[in-house]
Amino acid sequence: MTKSLNASLNRAINAKNDEFYTQRSDIEKELKRYKEQFRGKVVYCNCDDPYESNFFKFFAANFEAWGLRKLITTSYIGSPITDTEPLKLEIETVAGLASKGVVKYDDLVWLIEHNEGAVTYLNGDGDFRSEECCTLLAEADIVCTNPPFSLFREYVAQLVEYDKKFLILGSLNAITYKEIFKLIMTDRLWVGYNNGAKTYQVPDSYIQSNTFVGKDGKRYAAMGNTGWYTNLDTAKRHEWLSHYKRYTPEEFPKYDNYDAINVNKVADIPQDYGGVMGVPVTFLDKYNPEQFEIVGHIGSVGADGVYSFANAVYISGRKVFKRILIKRR
Ligand SMILES: C[S@@+](CC[C@H](N)C(=O)[O-])C[C@H]1O[C@@H](n2cnc3c(N)ncnc32)[C@H](O)[C@@H]1O
Repeated sequence: MTKSLNASLNRAINAKNDEFYTQRSDIEKELKRYKEQFRGKVVYCNCDDPYESNFFKFFAANFEAWGLRKLITTSYIGSPITDTEPLKLEIETVAGLASKGVVKYDDLVWLIEHNEGAVTYLNGDGDFRSEECCTLLAEADIVCTNPPFSLFREYVAQLVEYDKKFLILGSLNAITYKEIFKLIMTDRLWVGYNNGAKTYQVPDSYIQSNTFVGKDGKRYAAMGNTGWYTNLDTAKRHEWLSHYKRYTPEEFPKYDNYDAINVNKVADIPQDYGGVMGVPVTFLDKYNPEQFEIVGHIGSVGADGVYSFANAVYISGRKVFKRILIKRR
């Protein structure tokens, strides 16, 4: 093995905690909400071994019904599930595919055989940042995958740099990363529909308290806090939250060290308060940018000099964690 291939493999082994495979039911549930936005588009799944990825299988199965122009997928070196060499698969037609959904190995083989030159091996390790993957990224209209959790910041930064549409899975903790939150504040990224507890397939070697063996004999991990990040339009971003509470200083006290009131539940946001309010992070699930403006979040360094945030806020000396600061428009 060459030195660089060895280094790539070592990187893959070190990144083994990134091996969480998305279930088809989770993909279907979310993606069907965006169907019309995929028509005529080149879709790229850039962390996806076609032999194992349900993203690839979903798009291949819906290629015609969704009117996709092209489907590209590239895999990363050293998958503990399939252990294939990094490859690129490009599909431009599924005409003649007998089964309704590409779920079986035979279907993949059929697709590969009926798309001349569809499979090529990559020169490098299939890293989404590699030159050959960036060339494919430049060609794509929409990127859709579950990228490695450990590289989420870099992954999103690259999508923004290439000005791509995307629909991706990630840990919901990433909301409070400085770089991600900045995108949320500037309306360049928002959360999708189905966020929260999910179960992912993991390699058999993952033996942790949150993993279990399913009826199909495969190992799964239950994760409490993952969700969809996108810049594709969603209907819920245009829905207006209605509120029934009125502001009183007793119910909504101000922080000791920051000029904003504290609101413990999104449903309790007072309808008549015009200043800055600290609300739980779950607000983002209901965020309509025409109704509210996000001015920052507590616990970060703040947003480009607009506000300077304390590391934590207090009410009568009691610490309040993780609040998003919002204002009515
Ligand atoms: C969270 S898993 C999800 C796999 C697949 N996208 C899915 O949803 O089932 C992340 C995948 O990214 C791959 N990966 C890790 N580092 C990568 C990198 N630098 N570039 C591309 N893929 C990478 C891993 O091997 C893993 O298969």
